[in-house]
Amino acid sequence: MSLYRVKQFYRSMVSKINDEDIDFLRMYLEVYELQLFHQLPTYEQKHCINVARDVKSTCNQRVLQSKYLIKVALLHDIGKIYSNMNPIDKSIMVIMHNITNGRIESHKKNKNVNMYYNHGDIGYNLLRKYGYDDRFLFLVKNHHNNNITEDTELDLLKECDNRN
Ligand SMILES: [Fe+2]
Repeated sequence: MSLYRVKQFYRSMVSKINDEDIDFLRMYLEVYELQLFHQLPTYEQKHCINVARDVKSTCNQRVLQSKYLIKVALLHDIGKIYSNMNPIDKSIMVIMHNITNGRIESHKKNKNVNMYYNHGDIGYNLLRKYGYDDRFLFLVKNHHNNNITEDTELDLLKECDNRN
């Protein structure tokens, strides 16, 4: 298990949404999106905020438009509003994924396994009902899909997701 996973786990255990986070969220999300967002467990909210901040600074460094992608980043794990996982469950899933080389994916009858592998699709289906454009939905759906390459925005989202 790499060091960043340990850090990620530690941060998830102590995560809090502070005033700066609230201001950041208000800058990029509409009221109905905030209502959706706050249904995520706190540690997932914090993860999404960190990914979105990373997207913002990486876009700035690379002189790319960031507003759209920041919103995608904030909502990329929204499928997890249906998750009952806590940070420990999540860490167990990461470990199981790594030691079984992904073969645990075949045990989708298990709620946590299903959520771990399918939250992109779940988020896609949820956001589709709100009328997001196809590109937005595509990015949410495929943020863990390693079969899609050479998509600059998707790659940036994955890169920032992995760093946080
Ligand atoms: Fe995700």
